[in-house]
Amino acid sequence: MANKTFHKLFWLITSTFVSMPAGFSQEPVTMDLDARIAGFLNDHAGTWRDWNVPPADGETLHDLIIKNNFTRALEIGTSTGHSAIWISKALNRTGGKLITIEIDQRRYETAIANFQQAGVSHLIDARLADAHKLVRELDGPFDFVFSDADKEWYQQYMEALLPKLAPGGCFVAHNVRRSGNSRGIASMLDYARSQPDLETMLDSAGAGMSISCKKQP
Ligand SMILES: C[S@@+](CC[C@H](N)C(=O)[O-])C[C@H]1O[C@@H](n2cnc3c(N)ncnc32)[C@H](O)[C@@H]1O
Repeated sequence: MANKTFHKLFWLITSTFVSMPAGFSQEPVTMDLDARIAGFLNDHAGTWRDWNVPPADGETLHDLIIKNNFTRALEIGTSTGHSAIWISKALNRTGGKLITIEIDQRRYETAIANFQQAGVSHLIDARLADAHKLVRELDGPFDFVFSDADKEWYQQYMEALLPKLAPGGCFVAHNVRRSGNSRGIASMLDYARSQPDLETMLDSAGAGMSISCKKQP
């Protein structure tokens, strides 16, 4: 409770004093929206039941996007939208947009409702589709990819998206610690480490994430 009050107070203070550079985005980027999203995440903490990322991982994704000023994001595996809301919270500040893909209709529809409630619908292009097919069709470029769907397909997602990843951009894969024994995760990590233009590190907070970033030329 005290933690919740502190969090709300923190966002109230930052929403009052932090301002964005003018002309940073085509959408109205407001710290009011940042506070609204933070409030939504805070109010829904502990309620996510559909294989959603833990809050620590959501925060890591959020901070990575802001630190690198990423604006062109893709997520594979929306589920009910927890990670997408963390990502869009960061994109609200960088002036970016997210495409997110989900194959299951119920989870997709719940995500859409969550995006509306959190106030982030205008930042997200949510697709009900099979990512195996759609990922190949998307044009890119992307500077941030979050892979959180079927682990056995992780390497194929990475292979399809590396040519569409901008220099300096990062491909983040979820569950590399919890699913560390899965053949899909292991082969994706081997593949990532064999790419001379990629630098891969592991983040072991939460469920474990690999972060593979394309070197600048
Ligand atoms: C681990 S959950 C994603 C959790 C989500 N990132 C979050 O934190 O809220 C994985 C999701 O990927 C979806 N998925 C699995 N295979 C897929 C595919 N081929 N195309 C699109 N979505 C897929 C599943 O239906 C499931 O909802």
